[in-house]
Parts: sequence; C-alpha cells; structure tokens
Amino acid sequence: MKVLVTGGAGFIGSHVVEEHVNSGDQIIIVDDFSMGKWENIPKSGAVTVYEKSITDYKFIEKLLIEEKFDVIYLLAAIASVADTIERPFESHLVNQEANLVILETIRTNKLSVQRIIFASSAAVYGNLPKVPKEESDPVLPDTAYAIDKYATERFVLAYSHLYQIPTVAFRFFNVYGPRQNPKSPYSGVLSIAANALKNDSVFKVFGDGLQTRDFVYVKDVVQALQLGMRNDDMIGQVFNVATGHARSLNETLALLETAAQRHFKLEYLDPRVGDIKYSSAQIDKIQSYGYQPKFNLNRGLQQYWESLGE
Ligand code: UD1
Repeated sequence: MKVLVTGGAGFIGSHVVEEHVNSGDQIIIVDDFSMGKWENIPKSGAVTVYEKSITDYKFIEKLLIEEKFDVIYLLAAIASVADTIERPFESHLVNQEANLVILETIRTNKLSVQRIIFASSAAVYGNLPKVPKEESDPVLPDTAYAIDKYATERFVLAYSHLYQIPTVAFRFFNVYGPRQNPKSPYSGVLSIAANALKNDSVFKVFGDGLQTRDFVYVKDVVQALQLGMRNDDMIGQVFNVATGHARSLNETLALLETAAQRHFKLEYLDPRVGDIKYSSAQIDKIQSYGYQPKFNLNRGLQQYWESLGE
C-alpha cells in the first residue's frame, strides 16, 4: 500500500509510520518539523519525507495527484489548545483549511483512496457537565483548536456521506508516550512533567490538579487507527480513542513518580484560559469494533519513563 502521513515526523505520526513500515508499506511523510523531529522517523528505504507545511497547497495537490495514495492519515496539526488561543488564524489554516484542501483535491480529481483517517479531539466536547463523553453527546467547541477540530471532523465525515470518499474520524483523548516532544510550554502535559522529573526541575500545575484526563498510550492509539483503516463498517463514523478510565492530574503525577522512583517539585498556578476541567471518555463504541486498550496508566507510564533512558 502507498500511505501518506501528514505530521509523520511528529509524536503520534511517527508511531503510525513505524506500524506501516513493519507492514511492508510505502510511506510518504509531509511534516513542517515545527514539532516533529528527524530522529522520530524510522530509518527505512520505504519512507520518503517532505519537509513542507500542509498549507503549501500547490505542493499538496501535486503530491496527491501524482502519488495516488491508498491510505491517508491527517495527523498534522497545531496540537495544543493553549497554543491556538495565542494564534487562532494561523492554527485554523493548519487545523482546518489545509485538510479541506486535501479532501477537495481528492474529490475534484476523482482520486481513489481506500481510507482517509482524521485525528479529531476530545476537546470538541468542551466543558459540558456530562461525563464520561459518548460520541452521540452534545459538543461545545469553544477554543480555536476545538472549533477547527470539530469542523474538520464534520467535513471529513461529510465527504464520506456526500461523495463516498471512505473516511473515519477519531476523537483522541490525552495521548502520551515515547517521542512526545516536551520542547514547547504547550506540549502535552506528561511530556513536560516527565522532562521536569528527569531534570529535577519545577513542574507547574495549572489549576488545582483536580482536572481529569483520560491518558491513552500512543500504541493503543495506533491500534485504534489500524482498526479504522481495515474495518469498512467504521467508515463515515467518529470514535473516541481513550482507555475509558480518567484520572486527576494530581493522581497521574503521583503514578509517574512511582514509575520513575523520583519526586516532583511542584508549583501550583492559576488554571489555563480555555482549559477543560473534566475530560473522561466512554469507549463502548470503538470497543464494539474490537478495540481493547493494552496499556493501563501504570503500564504506559512505566514504558514511557523507560523510553526516556532512565
Ligand atoms: C490535549 C492535547 C490535545 C488533544 C486533547 C484531547 C496536547 C498538547 N494537547 O489537550 O491535542 O486534542 O488533549 O483532550 O497534547 N498542564 C499543566 N502543566 C503544564 C501543561 C499542562 O498543569 O505544564 C495541565 C493543563 O492545564 C491541562 C492538563 O494539564 O489541565 C492537560 O494539558 P495538555 O497536555 O496541554 O492537554 P489538553 O489541553 O487536555
């Protein structure tokens, strides 16, 4: 198979690329390396890398028409809620418009694809009180990040219903694991926390630490995406990707301390603007298609910590 992974040098993308290298596929990565890294990419003759933004529309159109991909993963994104609050228009171009250009290129050129997989987000549920979240629940996207993820998810699924382009969307909860890049203050919380623990520096908790998240190990996310790629019954639908067990940030930090056999230096600050307080997932829908998370938080944190070379 010929596979396109936008954001393939990034955290989640690089694990997807690895999976397809192991399956003997041919992979093309488009990544602007804003958060991605060359060392994330498996060394393999099967992988071709373009250091380009997905907002380079001329390049993307040409690539899609020339390469005729079987499977496309739309994983490139400005991945932080807080970051998109700082730059809503720039992030909109990446998180929504560029993906729409890809869909339109496929539609107007009648390109035949077996699957388009889109990474949506739990952020679309917003701060509505009901937890855990089911896919059929109301949504309240109220940051640039959540608005763009929700709108793009709807576009992606509409292209399946209206134009018979086979798409599947996944609402990722809080993904963590090896290769998550801690370099930005907007990076995923566990990458920043693990980095602080490793360097014995202060970790800043935004808010009281009682906010909850469903932290899902990146290998379980890859498992979910592979299901969506193979199972035709999942086409045109959206699925939560999580473990089904949410924890408070404080509890999660304590588990990381146990895994690392180290102690945090914590500082508690005001909550972040736009932050979601309670995020927790119901995963019955994707489980009914055979998904079963293999990493509970203890196991995932242990593996993650070990991957950091401690
Ligand atoms: C995360 C993902 C987002 C995904 C969403 C799904 C990242 C960067 N963001 O958003 O892509 O769509 O989950 O639900 O992975 N925090 C601290 N200290 C820090 C950093 C964060 O206390 O140094 C807190 C935040 O205020 C927040 C929690 O930790 O309450 C999680 O933050 P973050 O990792 O940025 O993720 P989300 O905003 O949940």
